[in-house]
Amino acid sequence: MKLSYPVHTLDNQLLLPAGTVLSTETLEDLISSNKVTSYQAYPLLEYGMVKHDLLRQMIRPPYDLIFSSQERIAGVMTVLEKVNLIIPVLQSLDYFKRDDYHTYCHVLMVLALSTLIARDLLPDYRGWINEVSRGPTHDIGKICIPLHILKKATPLTKAEKSIIDHHSTAGYVLLSYLHKDYKNLAAIVARDHHERKDGSGVPRGIRLRDRMVEIIVVCDVYDALISPRPYRPVSYDNRTAIEEVTKMAEMNKIGWEVVKSLVAHNRKDKPRPSEVKVSREKRGTTPSLNFHGVVEEADSDS
Ligand SMILES: [Fe+2]
Ligand SMILES: [Fe+2]
Repeated sequence: MKLSYPVHTLDNQLLLPAGTVLSTETLEDLISSNKVTSYQAYPLLEYGMVKHDLLRQMIRPPYDLIFSSQERIAGVMTVLEKVNLIIPVLQSLDYFKRDDYHTYCHVLMVLALSTLIARDLLPDYRGWINEVSRGPTHDIGKICIPLHILKKATPLTKAEKSIIDHHSTAGYVLLSYLHKDYKNLAAIVARDHHERKDGSGVPRGIRLRDRMVEIIVVCDVYDALISPRPYRPVSYDNRTAIEEVTKMAEMNKIGWEVVKSLVAHNRKDKPRPSEVKVSREKRGTTPSLNFHGVVEEADSDS
């Protein structure tokens, strides 16, 4: 992997310049350049307004269907109460809350939803949630994207699209540095959350095999569809969003088990994921105006 753009921290410390090849040696040198012995950690739910903001998102449709009872909300909150995050990661949440509220809500809800799905599919989900949530921030690399590009409401230029696509690699570098471990699961999730099972993803086009990362992938896509976004005046309705995720499973970009779990949580009677029959019928309507992934033909800045 080679960096196309520089990676810096929130306080503008350059970690690696553009052009750096991410070899094991480079990553080890980067980690040993971190002179902080250990960052202070703090419970996520007690930080700022996080708990309040999370609860508010859980009652927003269609999440109100997924988190449909106090018991379900309490079940997730009990797990999240144990999540402690290091200060630089919490500061990235402050940054997103202040400057890109969509990303702030997105990382919180991907964490909450992936907790529910992980509980269905992973035997040691508590251990896993704790590890991944040391950087709930599969999208932490977005701190390296200039805000005018991150929040752009019109089609991107090729160069802007490539800066946005770089956030997974940037997140990998940032979390490897902050956790002083490039094999840390949070860093791996940041790096691989835009990869797909059939190898059609980015940045490396590897075949996604890790179940934990796959859960994040599905929650990431689903939340992005049902939530407000600058590049689209209207969000996907829930039915269409689930159909989009189902299409991805039909194309072998993600696995059926994760989709079944997502569908089960979206049903009123909350069946077991293994008992869910996913409808292949496509009756949803995608938003008519949507610039997601649309790249301007004439690239004015290249
Ligand atoms: Fe992302
Ligand atoms: Fe994301």
